[in-house]
Amino acid sequence: MRRALALFALLGACGSAEDSGPLPPDGGAPGVGGSAVDMPNPLGRDRCKPPAGTTGSPQTIEQAVALLNALPKPTSVACFVESLDRPLTILSTNSVFSAQPALSTKSPRVFIKTGELWSSIVIAGDSSDLIEFGYLIPGTLRSIKAELHLPLQAPVGPSAPYDRVMFGETGTGCGFCHFGEQLEPVSGISNVFSSVAFKPRADTHVSLEGLRLEAQTCSWQAEPRRCEMLAAVFGGGAVVEGAFPSSMNTFF
Ligand code: HEC
Repeated sequence: MRRALALFALLGACGSAEDSGPLPPDGGAPGVGGSAVDMPNPLGRDRCKPPAGTTGSPQTIEQAVALLNALPKPTSVACFVESLDRPLTILSTNSVFSAQPALSTKSPRVFIKTGELWSSIVIAGDSSDLIEFGYLIPGTLRSIKAELHLPLQAPVGPSAPYDRVMFGETGTGCGFCHFGEQLEPVSGISNVFSSVAFKPRADTHVSLEGLRLEAQTCSWQAEPRRCEMLAAVFGGGAVVEGAFPSSMNTFF
C-alpha cells in the first residue's frame, strides 16, 4: 500500500530535513508572545482571510471545503490555516505513526479544532501538503474521515475529500488503523465513512510554547515554506491549546 510505504520511508528519513540554524533575519519572526500581530508575509502576499459567504470557523468538512474553494487559487495549506478565526485552538504531536506523519518535534503534526471538526496539518515534510479532517460525531468517539491534497488549483466537488481516501469500493485507507468503519448517510455524497477516532499519545505531545518558539526562530531565508506554515499558525493572533476528549483512546 502506497501509504504504508510512504510511512515507513518517512520513519527512516525522520528529522533529516531540519534546520536548527541561525536566528531569523530582521522582520522575519512571526507574531510574538501570542499577541495578535498581523505580520505582512515576507513571501510577498497578504494573509488569507475567509471570503464573503464562508466561515473561518468551519464546523463540518463541507464548510471547510467551501472555505477552501472560495480562497484565492492556488490555495495552499498555509492559506487555509491563515484564514481560520483566532483564537486558534491547536494540539501538536511529533507522532510519525499515521497516514500524515509528523516530520519531527520541530515540524510536528498540528491538529486544529473548530467545533467538532479537527483539521490536521504538518509543518514541513512530505505530508505538509495534506489536510486531513476528522469530524467528531457528537456524543461519540468516532469521526468522519477525509483528506485533501493541496495546493488546490480550482474548486473541488463535495465528494472530493471522501473520494481521495477511498480504498477499494467499500471503505477507506484510513480504516486500516481507524477501525470500526461504517458508511454514514450524508445527502448527495455516497462514500462518507466514520471510524474510531484516536488522540495522540501524551508522550508525543509538542507544547504550544515550544512550537511558538519555532515560529519565532524560523529562518525565512533557509526554510521559507516551513516558516510560512508556522506563521500561518502563529502570525494571525492568539493561539491556545486544545484537547481531544479525555475518554478518547490512543492507537497504542
Ligand atoms: C497508520 C495508521 C493510521 C492510518 C492509516 C490513519 N491514521 Fe489517523 N491517526 C492515527 C494515529 C496513531 C492517530 C493519533 C494521532 C497521531 O499519532 O498522529 C490518528 C489520529 C487521527 C485524527 C485525529 C482524531 C480522529 O478523528 O481520529 C484524524 C482526524 C485522523 N487521524 C485522520 C485520518 C485520515 C483522514 C486517515 C486516512 C486518510 C487516517 N487518519 C489514517 C493513525 C492512522
